Amino acid sequence: MTGKKVAIIGAGAVGAAAAYSLAFTGTCHRILLYDIFPEVAIGKAIDIAQSTNYSPRGTVVEAAVKPEDIKDCDVVVITAGVPRKKDMTRADLLNINAGIVKEVTGHIKKYSPNAIILCVSNPLDVMTYVVHKVTGWDKNRIIGMGGALDASRMAYQIRRKTGFGAAQIKPMVLGDHGENMIPYPDITNVGGVPLDQIVSKEDMQDIIAKTKDGGAEIVKYLKTSAFFAPGRAISIMVEAILSDEEKVIPSCAMLDGEYGHSDVTVGVPCVIGANGIEKVIELDLDDETKAKFAKSVESIKENIAILTDSGFFDS
Ligand code: APR
Repeated sequence: MTGKKVAIIGAGAVGAAAAYSLAFTGTCHRILLYDIFPEVAIGKAIDIAQSTNYSPRGTVVEAAVKPEDIKDCDVVVITAGVPRKKDMTRADLLNINAGIVKEVTGHIKKYSPNAIILCVSNPLDVMTYVVHKVTGWDKNRIIGMGGALDASRMAYQIRRKTGFGAAQIKPMVLGDHGENMIPYPDITNVGGVPLDQIVSKEDMQDIIAKTKDGGAEIVKYLKTSAFFAPGRAISIMVEAILSDEEKVIPSCAMLDGEYGHSDVTVGVPCVIGANGIEKVIELDLDDETKAKFAKSVESIKENIAILTDSGFFDS
């Protein structure tokens, strides 16, 4: 027994925050940070490693300098990518990040063939689809992290609105991790109390709007995207896998008929455990939410089609 090993590919802001959060949970024994720029992975790994004498179980944090250093990991997190620059279209960004995700997924397939992959790179739902197609692995082994973050952002908005219930909020967010995300307050509760019994209809709408704007609000202040909340959301998902928690977490999953859709990766409530996605939970959606969900699926499929039409999946 060598202990659990997790690799994080992409030692940028999100990758480092995930490693830091994970180092302080004590769930995994070893964390490897890999980046196309080895000095970034080395520097951040040293910094985090120098904090772990104060971690619960002295998690070992190291840089993986070469792709082959990510050998035999239990979980591999993909946070590699480039941010959108001023002169880039969405399609440009899609193609660039898809290329990066394809490349690093090739490394994972070769060196950690038994891993569960947690994809975080954006646009999340499409990148998760890329990982599925590049690996060809069983669909339970590939999960996208979007809903865990969006739900945490929704909980933040609910807490601000109610003024109580921190860490007791059970939010639900469906759909893509983007413009068509569906925060679903109707089935959300605070300590078991249905949300619609403690906030007004208008407040519910405000919670939905602010949740959807959660990432953009931070960019407005920082001029860069968020990393602490994404890092923590990654870490709880990795913990759920490593400890076989069978925890219900909204996650990006490959659908095969669930919710009436197939061959598309989209956010739905999933049971996360040792095998990755242990189960996709099918909610009985009301008509309005069903229509929103279909719109969200359509937007993801449009982006997948951009890649398909460019021949991305041919080689
Ligand atoms: N292989 C490995 N690492 C790579 C590659 C590659 N081919 N290409 C880029 N990277 C690395 C970059 O060098 C950088 O260190 O990925 C890292 C990305 O980090 P940041 O630019 O800081 O971006 P971050 O904010 O961490 O977001 C990473 O997660 O939430 C998503 O939208 C976000 O897609 C983005 C990703």
